[in-house]
Amino acid sequence: MSKRILVLQGDGIGPEIMAEAVKVLNLANEKYELGFELSSGELGGASYDKYGVPLADETLERARQADAVLLGAVGGPKWDGIDPALRPERGLLKIRSELGLFGNLRPAILYPQLAESSTLKPEVVSGLDILIVRELTGGIYFGQPREKRVLANGERQAYDTLPYSESEIRRIAKVGFDMAMVRNKKLCSVDKANVLASSQLWREVVEEVAKDYPEVELSHMYVDNCAMQLVRAPKQFDVIVTDNMFGDILSDQASMLTGSIGMLPSASLDVNGKGMYEPCHGSAPDIAGKGVANPLATILSVSMMLRYSFAQAEAADAIEQAVSLVLDQGLRTGDIYSEGCRQVGTAEMGDAVAEALKNL
Ligand code: NAD
Ligand code: IPM
Ligand code: MN
Repeated sequence: MSKRILVLQGDGIGPEIMAEAVKVLNLANEKYELGFELSSGELGGASYDKYGVPLADETLERARQADAVLLGAVGGPKWDGIDPALRPERGLLKIRSELGLFGNLRPAILYPQLAESSTLKPEVVSGLDILIVRELTGGIYFGQPREKRVLANGERQAYDTLPYSESEIRRIAKVGFDMAMVRNKKLCSVDKANVLASSQLWREVVEEVAKDYPEVELSHMYVDNCAMQLVRAPKQFDVIVTDNMFGDILSDQASMLTGSIGMLPSASLDVNGKGMYEPCHGSAPDIAGKGVANPLATILSVSMMLRYSFAQAEAADAIEQAVSLVLDQGLRTGDIYSEGCRQVGTAEMGDAVAEALKNL
């Protein structure tokens, strides 16, 4: 039976990086006879321009019917001034929430060839392989009430709410422990329990879940310290589990340990392992349309899709190997360029990965 993949390229560099990811996906589909059927749709600004909303019901329904969703990135200055409820980012939040994609895996792995591309010293980052598990459908991103209002004295005020229920914490903690079990059995739960009530419950529940995972060494860290430790000595971490907003921020930070945010893929999974796959970076309006964006995060997201949604480990490994071979050849987009390498554009990088995959 064929498996359906819905491709949402999104905005900005979205279409550019997705073209390369689809090239690689199509090739893997043929080479490993995966039986994928691809179709495309709109999300974000592209959807707003076509349907007047950042996620149309019809697109959401197609996403529900699909076996997996592949996403580029959404947003951009063109839509920054519109009604906040219709912003491109709201479409992304809605699809995550509606599909129940609470478990966001963001692996930060340094390809050894890129040790020179990181802004940190090679000895600090060499061999880096950490996984950030981010809660994706709760917390301050979705908490109610939230409001921007004018007080009686005429002053403007705005607030958000940061709620977490124990079931939400328990299920993401389990993802963190399960991931630690198949890795190096170390889990660091990151919170702000010295200040926030939601973090205090977070810590309690994580401790409870830990009882089912006696083999995993659990530690807790405050988010401010974690931000510092990620730069000071990132290899102390194996798996980090954290809430929606902290995970957003820490994963962008962790991306620079790997050389560039253009290297960080992600998987967003529901309770059954159904997923949406996207790079961690955004639509990069500053370089959109120039053909220079790094497509590797999206290509590596395809690999995660094959691994997590379709249990095609061989094909997933092959894509990662193809990326590594291309880096061996010295090909670099601008964001990961270092002296002595050959700078290439988005399409050339995608072609090179496809070629390497073909020859594997
Ligand atoms: P961004 O990630 O788009 O860009 C930050 C910086 O990283 C920019 O200098 C950009 O050029 C660079 N960069 C990002 N991806 C790159 C790539 N593949 N190759 C080379 N360089 C890359 O973050 P931002 O500028 O804060 O946000 C821009 C827009 O993207 C906003 O509208 C934001 O809301 C949106 N956004 C969307 C997602 C998503 O769809 N998942 C994620 C983050 C931001
Ligand atoms: C990400 C992005 C999104 C987030 C935005 C665009 C809503 O930054 O996927 O990391 O904050 O989750
Ligand atoms: Mn982000």
